Amino acid sequence: MTKVKESEAVLAINGGEPVRKAPLPWELPGAHWIGDEELELVGKVVKAQSPFRFYGLDSQQMVTKVEETFTKRWNRKHALGVSSGTAALRIALAAFNVGPGDEVLLPGYMWVSCIGAIVLQGAIPKLVDIDETFCMDPNDMAAKIGPKTKAVLVVNMSGAPGHIEKITKIAHEKGVKVLEDCAQACGSSQNGKPAGSHGDIAIFSFQLNKNITSGEGGLILCDDDTLYKRCVAIHDLGYARSNEGRLMPNDENFQMWGFGCRLNELAGAMLLAQLGKLDKITGAMRSAKWKIRRALEGTPGLEFRNIIDPEGDSGPFLITMYPSKEKCLEFTKALQAEGIKGPEGSLTCIPMSDWGMHWYYNNPSLVKKRSISADGFPWSHPANEFGKSISYEKGALPKCDELAERSAMLAIASTLSDKDVDDIIAAFKKVAAQVLA
Ligand SMILES: Cc1ncc(COP(=O)(O)O)c(C=O)c1O
Repeated sequence: MTKVKESEAVLAINGGEPVRKAPLPWELPGAHWIGDEELELVGKVVKAQSPFRFYGLDSQQMVTKVEETFTKRWNRKHALGVSSGTAALRIALAAFNVGPGDEVLLPGYMWVSCIGAIVLQGAIPKLVDIDETFCMDPNDMAAKIGPKTKAVLVVNMSGAPGHIEKITKIAHEKGVKVLEDCAQACGSSQNGKPAGSHGDIAIFSFQLNKNITSGEGGLILCDDDTLYKRCVAIHDLGYARSNEGRLMPNDENFQMWGFGCRLNELAGAMLLAQLGKLDKITGAMRSAKWKIRRALEGTPGLEFRNIIDPEGDSGPFLITMYPSKEKCLEFTKALQAEGIKGPEGSLTCIPMSDWGMHWYYNNPSLVKKRSISADGFPWSHPANEFGKSISYEKGALPKCDELAERSAMLAIASTLSDKDVDDIIAAFKKVAAQVLA
C-alpha cells in the first residue's frame, strides 16, 4: 500500500480516516499500577485491625515506613504523612505562622488548593507570572516580593520543576520562606536534586491523578525541627504526642489548634506499595513522552514547554504551544478527531484554556474574593487593607494569559504501548502538516 503524504492526507475532522479508533488509556498514573503489592500491605493493616497510625492492637507502622522512605530518598530530615495535598499546604503555611497582614506569592498556573490554603490562613494571595517552564517566573517573583511577603508558594507544575533553584535563592536572600508544592511532580528531579529538596517545606499529594496514589493522601518534608514539630501538632489536634502516641497538652511549646488531617494506615499501606513503583511509573511516562517530543521537535509552528532537565521530568504531560489561540484550538480539535483522546470523561487531550481552576482567573472564589465566614475574612481583616486594591481578574498576568490560550496538553498515560506512542506521533505530524503549514 502506498503511504499518503501527510500534507495530502484528509484529516479525520474533514471526513478522512482517523489515525486510530480505540481510546488512549486513562491518565491517572499510579492507579494503573495498583495490584497485589497494595493488596498485601493493606491486608496486613486489616488483619492487624490497626488502621490508626499512632497506636492500635498491632500497629503495622505503615505511615511511619512511608515517612522513612521519603526522608531517605529525598534526603530531608523530617517527613509527615497527612490526609491530602490541600491539607499539607494549609499545615505548612500555618507552621510558617502565615496570617493576616501577610501576603504569599504564588504562580497564576497552579491549583485551587494553593489559593485556598493562603486565604484560609488569613493572608492575601499575590499572583506571580509564569514563563515557558509553565512555573513561576523568577524575575516577576523578585519584582513582586515586598515588605508584606511572608512566603512564596512555588508549584512544580505538570510533572516537572521550573526555575526552582533560582526562586529559592532569591526568596531566601530576602528572608522569605519557600513552600514547594510537588503535588504534580512526585519523583521528578532537576540536576540530580529531587523536587521536594528545595522548599523550607515541600508538600506532596497522593490523590488519584498523581504519579503515585492512595486515593487521598499527602506528605510534608522539611529539615527544621521546630517547623516539623509545629506541622505534627497542627496536622493533628494542635498538641504534640508522646512516643506512645498520646496527646501531650501540657507541652507549652505546642499548645495550638489542629486541622485533624492525620494519614491513616490503610492509605499508608497503599502508599508504601506505590512508592516501590514510583520509578517504574515515572520512567514509563518520561520515556513515552520524550519519544513523542523528540519525534516532533523541529515541526514548524509547534513549540514545547521548557523543561529545564528532561532527565528529571516525571512525564505525565506533554505541553505544546501554537502561534495563536485559534491555531491551538484548531490543532487540538483535529488531533482529537484523529483518535488522540482518552475514554469518555477523561481529559487526555485538551487546549489548556479548558484546564479549569489551574488558571487563576478561572477561580470564582478568588476573583470575587469570597469568604467562608459571614464577616468576609480574610479580605475584610483590617491588617489586609492592602489586599483591597488587588485584582485577580484575567489580565493580571500577561504571560500566563497568553500561554493559557495558545497551549495544549496531552496527558501521557503510564501504560502507553509502543503503538499508542506511534499513533500519537503520526497524528501530530498529520495535523501539523495541514494546520500549521
Ligand atoms: C499543584 C497542586 N497542589 C495541591 C493539590 C491538592 O492535593 P489534594 O487533591 O491531595 O488535596 C493538587 C492536587 O490536585 C495540585 O495539583
